[in-house]
Amino acid sequence: MSVTNIISSTPSIENGYCSFELGSFSFHRDEYFAHISWVVNGRGMSHTISADVFLRALMRDVAWGFFYGRVNFDNVFGTTNHYGQVDMFAGSYNGDLKAKNLDLLETFDTPLIMATFKTMLDDWTNESFDPFAAPDETTQGWIGKKSGSNLAAINRERQVCQRQPGLPGDVALRVDEDGYPQNRAFADVSEDEPEVYIEPGFESEVGAFNLFAFLSRSNVTWNPSITSICKESLFCPTTEEYILPIAHGNDRCEWFFQMSDQIDWKVENDETGQPRAKVVMKAGDIAAMPADCRHTGYSPKRSMLLVWENANPELPKLYADGKLPVNPIQF
Ligand code: PHB
Ligand code: FE
Repeated sequence: MSVTNIISSTPSIENGYCSFELGSFSFHRDEYFAHISWVVNGRGMSHTISADVFLRALMRDVAWGFFYGRVNFDNVFGTTNHYGQVDMFAGSYNGDLKAKNLDLLETFDTPLIMATFKTMLDDWTNESFDPFAAPDETTQGWIGKKSGSNLAAINRERQVCQRQPGLPGDVALRVDEDGYPQNRAFADVSEDEPEVYIEPGFESEVGAFNLFAFLSRSNVTWNPSITSICKESLFCPTTEEYILPIAHGNDRCEWFFQMSDQIDWKVENDETGQPRAKVVMKAGDIAAMPADCRHTGYSPKRSMLLVWENANPELPKLYADGKLPVNPIQF
């Protein structure tokens, strides 16, 4: 089902924020909270999320184009990507709401839900709040009445590599005084570059770079960037601090390589949100997240994580049809 959205562009007299509607869902925010409402079987339902939590999740959903599979903002509200269309749901993957038929799921064409989410993100993000930053690196500006906007933060363009980082002609690798500063937590990370001895004639094709130095200058958290592609295999390193703002229910297996410090993962049943496991990952640990779980990470200090994704577009159907085991390794 595709429904048109009505965006009420009149800001609230009380707090300055606009309200939004998409399909049968409506959204409004006040000084502290985002409120989501829906009607199911004639019964009005509502759900409240702290505005900072909502905006951090909304930022990821927008920036990642709805990501792989499911993005749970919390244990009630979220989206599922069908690559061209997106489900928006409340309660559909919450065991209790689902059992009582109080959930609602509607499907939208991607451009429509994307436009609605972008407009809401823009309107609800105040001037001094950066939803990509670690809490210690932004202000509490999400609290209170509407005050300005932070377009620079929410429209951050990824710096796109022209070539493999480190090779002549690449512009993205800025480990120099013109690039981003080293993060406070990574001030001790060496910026030595690897020594590479290249067979004559291959100088413009062989290269290496210091990934730790590169990541030590990341100015965002929980935002994997693709640094290498080999067929469908994507290496997506990222720096993490505090809580992954979504609980991700992937539509395929994914691997985590903890490159520094520690992240604790809370793993749940993706259909119901019931607890499944806690995975404590210390520097050097590798884990695979099965294709039928949802996971959220907790990083007490800024840490470096490599997310390894398989971008093969056939995978969601193979898992959904039970043709691939949900765990990549059978012990
Ligand atoms: C994930 O859901 O697997 C994920 C997303 C963003 C990150 C790390 C992990 O920064
Ligand atoms: Fe994930």
